[in-house]
Amino acid sequence: MRVLGIETSCDETSAAVLEGSGDDVAVRSLVILSQDVHRIFGGVVPEIASRAHLTAVVPVVRQALDEANLVQRDLDAIAVTNAPGLVGALLVGVSFAKSLAYALGIPVIGVHHMEGHLFATALEHEDAVPPFTALLVSGGHTMLLDVEAWGRYRLLGRTRDDAAGEAFDKVAKLLALPYPGGPHVERLARDGDPKRFRFARPMVRRDQLPGDADYYDFSFSGLKTAVLNAVKSAEESDRASIARAFQDALVDTLVEKTARAAAAYGRRRIVLGGGVACNSALVAAMRERLRGAGGEVYAPTPRLSTDNAAMIARAGLFHLERGERADLDLNAFASSPLPGLIAA
Ligand code: KG4
Ligand code: ZN
Repeated sequence: MRVLGIETSCDETSAAVLEGSGDDVAVRSLVILSQDVHRIFGGVVPEIASRAHLTAVVPVVRQALDEANLVQRDLDAIAVTNAPGLVGALLVGVSFAKSLAYALGIPVIGVHHMEGHLFATALEHEDAVPPFTALLVSGGHTMLLDVEAWGRYRLLGRTRDDAAGEAFDKVAKLLALPYPGGPHVERLARDGDPKRFRFARPMVRRDQLPGDADYYDFSFSGLKTAVLNAVKSAEESDRASIARAFQDALVDTLVEKTARAAAAYGRRRIVLGGGVACNSALVAAMRERLRGAGGEVYAPTPRLSTDNAAMIARAGLFHLERGERADLDLNAFASSPLPGLIAA
């Protein structure tokens, strides 16, 4: 089956063509157009994002087809992100996908953006398939999941306030670094002295038990306040050490909770996804911690960690193969629960 994927949930206009079936899938093309305009404003401006998607969606899809050496008639189905995200931005992709599918007489399917992130790593690592423990860390979400099978997900933990990527972006602002802040904080942290500052690990206590409400959950807004206080009282030359202490605290927390989940469900494979999975300190710390327990950690390359249409096509293919189809009243939603949730 040849599936065209379309992703317009935030500030990337992306299209991809996938070919294959089951877990045997090849990415024939992937085009990602990042809307750099938001850098001027220090964050994504929803209305500007929608307009930029509108300008870009047709040429981006055309280029994805060209790079795959295909024409529209070669497509068997279209998968499009329809939740969660900026509703105006999502609507551009959803309207376009429905129109093209209708014109071609092929099925269209709506994909949950975070389910897309779950599938991304499998496009690069054939062993990154269920069962596994998943940590999805993006600008808008932080989710710890037990993935028993594709389409069967236990949501174990989530953030109670800021998402991990959001924490990186806010801390970047406090340190006068550009948006999006993650890569800049990571770079600055490399020059920091790890012993100069230490921030408390949020929601990590020795006496926590698996039944506790906060055993798997995250909270990053207190950490951000700790950084703010440190910045206020520190010297300019301490910025790198503050970045380092922030990243160490955040990474430690993510690793601890992921290790708890892997142990509780006896998973040997750990799959990371979302933009923060680009952070090499996170990936290294996760490998270091889980290696002892015989765990294998899989992280996608930056191209597939951040928002892209290949992961949307891959998740869409899974649903299409189960016979699922969307009607032409498919709509966009700012928030929506992950499909396939089962009791934890
Ligand atoms: O998944 P993504 O591309 O978009 C969303 O769905 O939100 O994630 C973007 C987030 C941003 O907050 C960005 O700062 C963060 O991922 N990010 C990083 C790194 N690269 C991107 N955070 C930490 N370290 C990085 N190297
Ligand atoms: Zn994302």
